[in-house]
Amino acid sequence: MNADAGMEPPADDYVRVIEVGPRDGLQNEAAQVPTAVKVELIERLSACGLPVIEATSFVSPKWVPQLADADEMLPAVHRRLGVEYPVLVPNLPGLHRAIAAGADCIAVFTAASDAFNRKNINCDIEKSLIRLTPVVEEALARGVRVRGYVSCVLGCPYQGEVAVADVVRVSKALAALGCEEISLGDTIGVGTPSKARAMLRAVAGDVPLAELAVHFHDTRGQALANIYASLEVGVRRVDASVAGLGGCPYAAGASGNVATEDLIYMLHGMGMRTGVDLDQLVDTARWINHKLKRQPASRLARIPIRKNVEQGI
Ligand code: HMG
Ligand code: MG
Repeated sequence: MNADAGMEPPADDYVRVIEVGPRDGLQNEAAQVPTAVKVELIERLSACGLPVIEATSFVSPKWVPQLADADEMLPAVHRRLGVEYPVLVPNLPGLHRAIAAGADCIAVFTAASDAFNRKNINCDIEKSLIRLTPVVEEALARGVRVRGYVSCVLGCPYQGEVAVADVVRVSKALAALGCEEISLGDTIGVGTPSKARAMLRAVAGDVPLAELAVHFHDTRGQALANIYASLEVGVRRVDASVAGLGGCPYAAGASGNVATEDLIYMLHGMGMRTGVDLDQLVDTARWINHKLKRQPASRLARIPIRKNVEQGI
């Protein structure tokens, strides 16, 4: 892929927001969240107009007990036409469980750091790609679409610095396997805009920019700034988590993704289209915060009077 072609920004002002709260958010909750609450959260999010909602994960329940109910939870969701519901899958048993539960889109995952992968999936980068090869092959053969995640693209909690060349290599490998979209994860929120921009430009030299998504955890308050920089580079797919829920259970110090409602507020303010009803989304953020008995992590959900939000006060 020619680097200049990869850098061509899409003319479109539409940003595809990928909601990951039900998976990336709820996988990290200390208390067990009832299955019915998970189902209702997903249904409320789809009613807000979100086009993609990552619903759950089919990883080992020994590793992530919080999502051990995936087999019952996914079939219970009333799915909206036109909305995608990807689920996280680490291996072939996970794929088979996901398909049995009715998944038609999966997300496979690895990292640009061997050290992180050993903690998160119990193998290094190369073994993870070998493990994922038959997963992607079988998924595609059965008409299941595949998204790919690369974690630790701007730093690793165990290794420290991560070479951009490793991010490019792993992204390219996932794309070559058949992933139609590559989500680049700043798992522990260490990135800053100039670093994010440089990383994206490097990856876009080998994977078309239109196929790249960004996934910023907001641990150090840099997520929106990093997303703004990514939009300037031309990225139009952004992962986010309602109410800023979450973190990765195997990334020490990770906090939630950028809050979806804060992201939508920024995008609409920039004149970008998302198809999301912001008021309804803020209500959903407040609802899940109430269910989880926690204070909102997002700025928008903390503002008491909706009228003021709309007026920008
Ligand atoms: P392992 O222990 O090496 O695997 O784990 P194993 O094959 O030896 O299996 C161990 C046990 O788990 C066996 O059971 C398997 O049957 C069972 P036992 O014989 O002991 O009774 N098992 C399964 N059961 C159900 N479904 C499965 C499954 N697989 C194995 N799919 C493995 C390897 C990959 C399975 C494990 O390490 C794992 O599940 N890791 C997932 C960790 C995780 O979910 N982390 C969070 C998601 S990643 C993330 O959040 C980052 C992201 O948001 C992007 C970013 O922010 O950067 C995506
Ligand atoms: Mg994440």
